Amino acid sequence: MNIKTDPTIDWAARDARVVHHPHGDVTDPARLVLVRGKGSTLWDADGRDYIDAHAGAWLTQVGHGREELARIAAEQMSTLAHFTIMGDYANIPTIEFCERLIARAPKNMAKVRLMSSGSEADDEALQLVRLYHHKRGQPQRTRILVLRGSFHGRTYGGAELAGGRPGIGDVPNNAIMLTPPLSYHSELFGGDDPTDFCVRELEQTIARVGADNIAAMFGELVMGPAGMIPVPDDYWPRMVAVLKSHGILFVADEVVTAFGRAGAWYTSLDYNLTPDIIVLAKGIASGYVPLGALLLDGNLADVLDGAGGGGSYAGHLMASAIGSANIDIIERENLLEASRLRGKQFLDELGELINLPIVGDVRGRGLMIGVELVSDKATRQSLFDTFPRLKKEIPLFTRRKHGVITAIHGGAVALTPPLVITPQEVSKVADAVGDVLARVNIHTGQID
Ligand SMILES: Cc1ncc(COP(=O)(O)O)c(C=O)c1O
Repeated sequence: MNIKTDPTIDWAARDARVVHHPHGDVTDPARLVLVRGKGSTLWDADGRDYIDAHAGAWLTQVGHGREELARIAAEQMSTLAHFTIMGDYANIPTIEFCERLIARAPKNMAKVRLMSSGSEADDEALQLVRLYHHKRGQPQRTRILVLRGSFHGRTYGGAELAGGRPGIGDVPNNAIMLTPPLSYHSELFGGDDPTDFCVRELEQTIARVGADNIAAMFGELVMGPAGMIPVPDDYWPRMVAVLKSHGILFVADEVVTAFGRAGAWYTSLDYNLTPDIIVLAKGIASGYVPLGALLLDGNLADVLDGAGGGGSYAGHLMASAIGSANIDIIERENLLEASRLRGKQFLDELGELINLPIVGDVRGRGLMIGVELVSDKATRQSLFDTFPRLKKEIPLFTRRKHGVITAIHGGAVALTPPLVITPQEVSKVADAVGDVLARVNIHTGQID
């Protein structure tokens, strides 16, 4: 069933008048006005269908149009939609949801702190790691280690973790930037093994700053916004071992990677990590409700027992009910395995694009796929440094010509569809991306 809206209504013009869009150049009067979704298919207001290889910022794990989730939301909303869990107030959907989250998590995870988004959860984590050291008599432990180019949310705390953001004034100068382990960019490591280089840099940084001044390291286990970049398998285990030996907490930002996006419930499990905090959002409810959470290690949870924060919507009954049902669907339909299989299919089918002059790297983990574009394979300079307009034009061309929705993140075309995407749809997306990238003229930046 297509929903074609009244063709006399100019939704694009009405949008341009009142909706303030985050990110991107929307001076172009056209808009993609989406009205309906089912599985990995989306329909616009003119009735045209698209394959969704984006998943609304990498999060619609169980696909669009799940009537089961709508029913559960309606039932819970008409029973009791929300009451705070501050103090001694509790509710059953939230208890059950937290039990499900913990049951699948690394064994040291004991408690869940519920939030409404990834940014809010990252910000809360930033406050909690400092509070933890404060309560243990080390209030000077305030510095935070982060990977250059990583993303930990859009709040002022997120800006602090990014080392500042242009135009928003000063933020506390607490972040210490470390070299990200981007295997493709071997120029970063002076011929050394990326993990060896990064571990040495970490040890030298701790020696220089003093472990007693460092609260935590925040890390994305696969770098998402930087361009869907998996890190070497030995990277996080070796980094975390060094952090732990210095009493520095480790916060695994799994906002993107968890709930099957990178192929497992939590990527921490793949690497045998026991983070002190795991930050969650996005796939936690497949976008059916805005939801985020922190998983807390048992010791940390004890020290922070009763700490403030939380927020009005923490423990929202309807959100918790949807969160549990989302986990049930992922399990029932084997979507963790589907993510791994479809991800491998993407890498197989996209592999030969490496022969195109503009393709420098094809990589991925689960359904976080990145095709990095370069203007020079020898220097690995980003194609978008040379032709910034292609950031907009490549996804637009792919959408208009092939009906496939993709995005650009960092220097890469990012493919992050719902985990329910079919093998046939994967092939269509791979063919579309291959066709468009083959049309890009490396000298002029024109798409012919
Ligand atoms: C790694 C990471 N952390 C945190 C966030 C922020 O999450 P949210 O958009 O739910 O605020 C994002 C968003 O893209 C992210 O990629």
